[in-house]
Amino acid sequence: MNYTNKMLRDNALKGKTIVITGGGSGLGKSMTNYFLELGANVAISSRNLEKLQSTAEELEKETGGKCLPVQCDVRNYEEVEQMLKQVLDEFGEVDILLNNAAGNFISPTERLSANAFDTIIDIVLKGSKNCTLAFGKHWIDKKVENKSILNIVTTYAWTGSAYVVPSATAKAGVLAMTRSLAVEWAKYGIRNNAIAPGPFPTKGAWDRLLPGDLKDKFDLAKKVPLKRVGDHQELANLAAYLVSDFAAYVNGEVITIDGGEWLKGAGQFNLLEAIPEEMWDQLEMMIKNKKRG
Ligand code: COA
Repeated sequence: MNYTNKMLRDNALKGKTIVITGGGSGLGKSMTNYFLELGANVAISSRNLEKLQSTAEELEKETGGKCLPVQCDVRNYEEVEQMLKQVLDEFGEVDILLNNAAGNFISPTERLSANAFDTIIDIVLKGSKNCTLAFGKHWIDKKVENKSILNIVTTYAWTGSAYVVPSATAKAGVLAMTRSLAVEWAKYGIRNNAIAPGPFPTKGAWDRLLPGDLKDKFDLAKKVPLKRVGDHQELANLAAYLVSDFAAYVNGEVITIDGGEWLKGAGQFNLLEAIPEEMWDQLEMMIKNKKRG
């Protein structure tokens, strides 16, 4: 099966300018790479300018595209406005905002300081809000249309999850914002969608979320009905589709890409998977006999 193949046709994003927060590494970098290959101009932002510069240089060389590194802490609205200005100065207009920057750590909630909780809420929820508001205001003021916002959330945005409570709380807010603005800003030609990825290993997040030998103790692939983790290209394919004109009628949607992981945890009888095939004859007989008696 060729799930690592690239999905869209050449130049599918030609003429588009995309801003990806947290685009310097991990999944943000993989999406940036694919958007550049598809002909888009891409601005990547994060707090670490050096990392952004080296990513931009590497990806420009690899793809021949134009990648602009912009330093910005999304928690600060003025810095977000500055980032937008820098992108407009360089590319003239911007078409797509991808709220990808995130922060997360595992911890029992009662061990967190108020500042620790705020730090995650500020990066994930306030950061996505800051970018969405600045870009949305700009697009609405300029009366430009065919714009799109894509938010990276997570499957526990709707189930919640123990031990990552600030992240779950913030992502739930981002999902609510996605669905609310999908309706409110449709009249301005701005689509709002989200992707909820399951396990897609990245060095940064993985080392932080599963430090030491936790990675070996909790083999995340085992939690997935399809028995594997995701490949970055699969996520990049979905993101490219959602921001492209091919998805012009997709608005207010959250697409889960997790191999069925969250549903496996949710279904009441899913644990019956542990029953070996040969035991089902026995069980069926027991159940039928019970009915007869
Ligand atoms: N457990 C408990 N508290 C923690 C913590 C952990 N693992 N890591 C940080 N904190 C607390 C700090 O102690 C501090 O609180 P305090 O001032 O009361 O002591 C607060 O969180 C802020 O920490 P700081 O390191 O100053 O924040 P930062 O803004 O520099 O870092 C993080 C933000 C914590 C999210 C950092 O991990 C980061 O930048 N991560 C990169 C992005 C990321 O996590 N990606 C994965 C996405 S899934």
